[in-house]
Amino acid sequence: MFTIFGASGDLARLKIFPALYALAEQKRFPKHFYVFGYSRSEISDKQFRKLVRRSIQERHDGVVDKAILEDLLSRFFYFSGQYDLADSFQSFAEVVLKKTGKKKITNIAYLAVPPLAFNSIVERLAGIRPQLGHDLRIIIEKPFGQDEESARSLYHHVSMFFSSDKTYLLDHYLGKDPVQSLLVLRYSNSILNTLLNGHLISNIQITAFEDLSVANRISYFDQVGIIKDMIQSHLLQLMALLTMDLPVDKDAHNIHREKYSILSALKLRGYERGIVVGQHESYRNIKGVDRGSQTPTFAAVRLFIDRQAWYHVPIYIRTGKMLKKKHTYVVIEFEKLPFQKKDPEVETNKLILELQPDARIHLKLYTKHGGIKSELHDLTTSESIACYGDDCLPEHSRLFVDVFREDHSNFLSFEEIIATWRFTDKILNFIKKRKIKPVKYEDYSDGPEEQSILPANDKLKWNDVSLTKDDE
Ligand code: BG6
Repeated sequence: MFTIFGASGDLARLKIFPALYALAEQKRFPKHFYVFGYSRSEISDKQFRKLVRRSIQERHDGVVDKAILEDLLSRFFYFSGQYDLADSFQSFAEVVLKKTGKKKITNIAYLAVPPLAFNSIVERLAGIRPQLGHDLRIIIEKPFGQDEESARSLYHHVSMFFSSDKTYLLDHYLGKDPVQSLLVLRYSNSILNTLLNGHLISNIQITAFEDLSVANRISYFDQVGIIKDMIQSHLLQLMALLTMDLPVDKDAHNIHREKYSILSALKLRGYERGIVVGQHESYRNIKGVDRGSQTPTFAAVRLFIDRQAWYHVPIYIRTGKMLKKKHTYVVIEFEKLPFQKKDPEVETNKLILELQPDARIHLKLYTKHGGIKSELHDLTTSESIACYGDDCLPEHSRLFVDVFREDHSNFLSFEEIIATWRFTDKILNFIKKRKIKPVKYEDYSDGPEEQSILPANDKLKWNDVSLTKDDE
């Protein structure tokens, strides 16, 4: 059984219901599968199903299999209750038992609620575990706290009621196909893995640009800003997957250990030259935003990994809202040969991983096509790493399958979360201490020009990648 806390909210509507439909389409539900929506709003089962139907149809542009959808909806029920009242949870347990009978089923609780409601739900839910059955798993989606201290207190609270093997800390980036392909690529190609070595790499650049602002989630976003929203978890996780040592045994415990060893070694060096923040020009016109808001909607950060192999490799991460296009990619730029080093004209080899909207891997090589001219020819090889076939699933669905299988490898550990908050807090404290104000950038532009300062200080530049579609 799957219970969604916060079932009438945006996250459930936009991501969770469509993810459950995708699983139904592929017949991936365990036996006796029911979905309970739990929220404070007073609505009936019928109204709830209507809401779920609309969400799924919107997501699939109306192209859904009617029989599958109706069968799925017949498994949806709604319970209106408070998040902090033991009585509500007791009544909920009774309703559930009435619907499911005494069958031994796995119970999965998904928290799609604001972080303030986490603690009471976790505690009350544990209170009804004896009725629900002992296999009660809990999924908590980012953000996990707002800083290191609150993440620690969330950790202590959750672990009082749920053991780590029953807790799934979800960052949807780890459910993305191309992000999962990263490890597959690394595990299956010794040349690739040999190249992913700090001694051979000049720098790594991670770009995650979005072409929308945040008007529909402004009360959340204006509090947190882009650094907490995108860098703290999604982009640091991506960086860790690329740079961590590959554990021989790739189970969850070992993957978490290796990611932690990178994430706990992050450093800002030369702070003044390491952070640029921006705000898109129409941000303060969004309803609910203070005219003097200093919330950044763009950030570029230069960081280092304090480990022998990576010590000299600058890693640049940039992300922003309301930019020209949505494009997420990583560029790994290799060192020049020792005798080429001083020549700024020399093109460098690059490994580019495009994650979205297209998922592709490109390797930039150069050659000369014979003859007496000396120009080099770009010999980029480029292959799709997008999912194809009939078993592709959206991020959340993939991660739910992992929860059914009790596989934690694509989830986070609390240790990783705390390490990434510790680093994020350092960035934010520096911004606060130095009173760094976001620079303005035009809506639908490439972001503030000041971002070039970061690589320029290392005599480098951003490697902008054009959308694959633009190239065609
Ligand atoms: C969410 C952030 O976690 O990730 C959003 O809160 C952001 O602000 C989103 O837009 C980006 O996800 P994706 O999958 O569209 O890259």
